[in-house]
Amino acid sequence: MLSLSLVIPTFNEAENIQPLLLQLSSLLDHALPDRYELIVVDDDSPDHTWALAAELQPKLPMLTVLRRQSDRGLATAVVYGWQQAQGEILGVIDGDLQHPPETLLALLETMQAGTDLAVASRNVTGGGVSDWSLWRRFGSRGAQLLGLLVLPEVLGRVSDPMSGYFMVRRSALDLNRLQPRGYKILLEVIAKGRIRHIQEVGFVFRERSQGESKVTSREYWDYLRHLLQLRLQRWESSRFLKFIGVGATGVIVDSLVLYLLHDSSQLGLPLLLSKFIAAEVAIFNNFMLNDAWTFRDLAKGSQKRYWSRRFLKFNLICSLGIFLNLLILSLLVEGLKLHYLPSNWVAIAVVTLWNFWLNRKLTWVG
Ligand code: GDD
Ligand code: MN
Repeated sequence: MLSLSLVIPTFNEAENIQPLLLQLSSLLDHALPDRYELIVVDDDSPDHTWALAAELQPKLPMLTVLRRQSDRGLATAVVYGWQQAQGEILGVIDGDLQHPPETLLALLETMQAGTDLAVASRNVTGGGVSDWSLWRRFGSRGAQLLGLLVLPEVLGRVSDPMSGYFMVRRSALDLNRLQPRGYKILLEVIAKGRIRHIQEVGFVFRERSQGESKVTSREYWDYLRHLLQLRLQRWESSRFLKFIGVGATGVIVDSLVLYLLHDSSQLGLPLLLSKFIAAEVAIFNNFMLNDAWTFRDLAKGSQKRYWSRRFLKFNLICSLGIFLNLLILSLLVEGLKLHYLPSNWVAIAVVTLWNFWLNRKLTWVG
């Protein structure tokens, strides 16, 4: 297996692609002789960047040129290239010489030392931008700050989340699950990958000497949409939020059954008996939803047969939760003389955590 697959996304980089490929191959021929590949993913550039890259193939046997006609976009081009790659380490570098090729060696070194993701950063020692206007620096920092607000657990992990120059271990990614939008492939990698350890390496973002940037206002919109998409996906995949959602349906079921059984216009059964049945029906409702949705992955397989056992445990934990709820409520109201409404919210919050964690540990084990 190859060590490194480096993807170079290009769109109209006719003047840059050949000098870049020659620099990359001479660096990597030293560092990783015969153990790397270069993959140019060109989106059918009108200036024929793909043809210019392919011209070098006789001289550079480790070079693959993919001319993509089906789609456009930097981030999807990178994923497309990685999907055809052979290497154990997947990397990306811009095709316009703004990313200094020498930084590759430092990135490679940190990867070989065992990190999962090595990011070339403008914001650590040795990093920077050439001569950006105050306005541009401000815009770049603003975008980063906004991202930090929306997705702190992703953007907070690196000093330069906008970087498009990095390497990641293939085993940390599920390439078919990446659905990036716009320019920011690194966000997608951190959000979806199994990235335990990240290392950053400083680099100076050079000025472009040939060709022009493809960034338009559309890329800013794509960035915003990408942030929101990731936020929603992460919520969707968050067990705890699902559990809370299921809990909310339980409150509705409980109220409905209580009304039907106890209300004088309905069956008019005694309050405690009605509430007992209502709570049991709600617990059953919550169990079925949690089993099929929240903890679906843990409930499937051969364990599926033991659903009655899971239901029993769930029932027990939730019933104890009801007692805990009463206990906390009376402690706060009688003991601490607090108002009963905020006291009830505290009790509900504690019992929700109790229900979630105990069921996670005992009912849906894994
Ligand atoms: N295949 C493909 N398709 N490549 C593209 C496309 C596209 O639609 N759009 C841009 N590229 C290529 C360019 O040819 C270049 O090699 C690289 O992607 C970066 O594009 P630029 O337009 O030069 O972007 P930039 O210099 O403003 O952005 C750089 O800095 C950002 C951080 O500020 C890139 O490195 C980004 O990845 C980085 O996030
Ligand atoms: Mn550029």
